[in-house]
Amino acid sequence: MRVLSGIQPSGLLHLGNYFGMMQPVIELQETREVYLFIADYHALTTVTDPAVLRQATLDVALDFLACGLDPERVVFYRQSDVPEVAELTWMLSTVTPMALLERGHSYKDKVAKGLASSVGLFTYPVLMTADILAVQADTVPVGKDQKQHLEFARDIAVKFNQRFEEVFKLPEPRIAEAVAVVPGVDGQKMSKSYDNTIEIFGAPKAVRKKMMRIVTDSLTLEDPKDPDTSTIYALFKLFSTPEEQAELAERYRAGGMGYGDAKKALHEKFETHFAPLREKREALSQDLDRVRDVLASGAARARQTARETVDRARTAMGLD
Ligand code: ADP
Ligand code: TRP
Repeated sequence: MRVLSGIQPSGLLHLGNYFGMMQPVIELQETREVYLFIADYHALTTVTDPAVLRQATLDVALDFLACGLDPERVVFYRQSDVPEVAELTWMLSTVTPMALLERGHSYKDKVAKGLASSVGLFTYPVLMTADILAVQADTVPVGKDQKQHLEFARDIAVKFNQRFEEVFKLPEPRIAEAVAVVPGVDGQKMSKSYDNTIEIFGAPKAVRKKMMRIVTDSLTLEDPKDPDTSTIYALFKLFSTPEEQAELAERYRAGGMGYGDAKKALHEKFETHFAPLREKREALSQDLDRVRDVLASGAARARQTARETVDRARTAMGLD
């Protein structure tokens, strides 16, 4: 069973990305064949500074490797190193109805938020479909926001298979509903668009400051507090054992503990978890050639799979 996922290099990764996407994918490397890529072609729809894109791409690679992605087991690559994906995008775009893309929420949302509308932004789902179909992925773990894109990928695969021949496997979405949405410091979904993120490899001082900014209610120190409505507690849960959770929940309910103490407990957990990974990242960042080698060999492996699929699609379409 082959799993594929991708992430755009468009900023420092945060706790939402980590618990929602990175950790689940890294865990799958134990039991599944995993393909994971850095979606730099997709990022071009929003990132316009080449230096920023270059840096963000390396940052994502470092983040995943520091967090335990094993490049021997996972095919880890940069999307633009696999030109077959761009080739397939064109072929698929000719079977994609305009009306399908016109239903795209993500395109409409981005334009409503003021992003310049471009052909690339509009056909973003076709590129994403090519990512998935090129490597014949069985499952695609993504967050809820990507659900419609997955439906498009299946629709486009069906259209192609019906018009030509059965070349593409239909991918199954694996929507990470189990991982509750990770809240940001303001209590809404953590997202870089909301300026409420805690970066997993942010400077330690900045991380601490952000944790101190987590919004709380105005109960006094003595008051009993409800852990289940507390953002601090929701974040603490991500790092801790059931026993540790029960203990902190008890301290909330008993009263006599201020939110400052809960923030301290959260910060300690964060440090215990990320300090060793930060050191590993620091060491890796001293050896960027190794990181580039990892991506190059991942791309070579991904290209092999993609070439085979794209050649079959070419034959089916009469391009052989
Ligand atoms: P952002 O919202 O910061 O722009 P992206 O949309 O680039 O993040 O998300 C990259 C990956 O991380 C996706 O798979 C997405 O589902 C996951 N993810 C992002 N934010 C969260 C969150 N707050 N909780 C759970 N998963 C998240
Ligand atoms: N659009 C996805 C996101 O923003 C990233 C992505 C691009 C992706 N291609 C993909 C995810 C293929 C899964 C499979 O999160």
